[in-house]
Amino acid sequence: MTDLSADRRSVGADVENSLYAGIMETIDLGIVILGVKRRDLIFKNKFATEIFSGSPNLLEYGTLVSMLLSDYGSKPSEEIFGKNYTLRFKNRLLGYTPYMIDGSFIWIIIRDITERSRLESIAEAVNSMDNISYVFSGIRHELGNPINSIKMTLSVLKRNLKDYSPSAVEKFVDRAMTEITRVEFLLQALKSFSIFENPEIQDVRIENFLERFIALVSSDLHHSGIRITKIIESGVSDVSADPRLLHQIMLNLITNASDALRDKDNPQILIRASKNRYLVTIAVEDNGCGMSDEAQANLFKPFYTTKTRGTGLGLMITLKMVTLMKGNMKIQSVKDVGTKAIVMFPEGESDA
Ligand SMILES: Nc1ncnc2c1ncn2[C@@H]1O[C@H](COP(=O)(O)OP(=O)(O)OP(=O)(O)O)[C@@H](O)[C@H]1O
Ligand SMILES: [Mg+2]
Repeated sequence: MTDLSADRRSVGADVENSLYAGIMETIDLGIVILGVKRRDLIFKNKFATEIFSGSPNLLEYGTLVSMLLSDYGSKPSEEIFGKNYTLRFKNRLLGYTPYMIDGSFIWIIIRDITERSRLESIAEAVNSMDNISYVFSGIRHELGNPINSIKMTLSVLKRNLKDYSPSAVEKFVDRAMTEITRVEFLLQALKSFSIFENPEIQDVRIENFLERFIALVSSDLHHSGIRITKIIESGVSDVSADPRLLHQIMLNLITNASDALRDKDNPQILIRASKNRYLVTIAVEDNGCGMSDEAQANLFKPFYTTKTRGTGLGLMITLKMVTLMKGNMKIQSVKDVGTKAIVMFPEGESDA
C-alpha cells in the first residue's frame, strides 16, 4: 500500500515537473494513465476529471477498464489498443483511444465529440432541406459563434500583446485555432449538401399515402415496441401537397414521437386524418414524455433541441415545408402525458 502510493507520487511528480505537465492540464483532451501491474490509476488530467466529474468512483482502475476496455484480457492486445471507440456518457458523446505502452501502462486519450456529432447531424438535415434560407440560417448560426470567439480572442491578444509572455500568447493562438478547426469541420460537413427543387404540388390520396408511409416506418417502430394506428375520418380523400415533402414532414413528426416514447410503457402513436371545411388535418399523437413549457416555447427555433444527437432543425424545417405547401401547423403537449403534432393542408382539387 505504502509502496503503491509512493510509486504513484513519484510518477505523478515526474509528470508534473516536466514541461508536458502544463500541456496535459490545459489541453482539451482527457488523458488517463493506468498501471497494468498494480491495477492502478496513475494519472488523470484536468479534462478527464471534468468529463467524469460528479461520478468520483468512475476514475478508478477497475471502473475505467470495465467502462472503456471491456474486452481487455479476453481479446488479444492488438485488437484493442490503438483503435478508436465511442462512449455515450451522461449527455456527452466521447471518443477515445487506448494505447499500451511497454506492456506496463495503458494510456487513454479521451475526446469530447458531442459537438462534432451534432454538426454531422446538422449536415445530414441540411441534405434533406428544400429551402436555401434555412441552409443559410444554419450556417450563420454555426459560423457566428466560433467567429465571434476568434474575434474576441484576437482583440484581447492585440490589446495585451506587449505584456503577455510567449506562452500566454500561444494559449490565445491555440484557442483561436481550435475555433477555426470547428469552422473547418462545419464547412467540410456541408460540402455535399444539395437542395430540393421547388415543391411539385399535386393531389395526394391520403389513404394510399398513409398506408405506404406506415408500411415504411412500421418495422422500425415495431422494433422499438411502438404500436402505430391510423384513423381516416369520413370525407377525407385528397390533399394538395408535394408527396416527397409530405413524406419528410411525416417522418420528422414520427421520429420526434418515437424519440419521446423511448422507455415509456405501452408506447403508441396515432395518426388521425380529418377534414375541417377546406382543410385536411393530419395529427400525429404520442403518449410519450410530453414537453416542458420551455420546450414548447422554443420548439420552432433553429437548433433548439433536448437530444444529444438532435439538430434542433426538424420542426423548423417541417414548418417551412408545411407553409411552402400553403398549410399550417401546431403542436399541443402535456408534460409526461404526450404530444399531438397537427399539420393542415388545403384539400385536393378532386375533393373541391
Ligand atoms: N413528440 C414530441 N414529444 C416530446 N418532445 C418533442 C416532441 N417533438 C419535439 N419535441 C421537442 O422539441 C425539440 C425540437 O424538436 P425538433 O424536431 O425540431 O429537433 P430534434 O428532434 O431535437 O432534432 P432533429 O431535428 O435532429 O430530430 C426536441 O428536442 C424535443 O425536446
Ligand atoms: Mg426532430
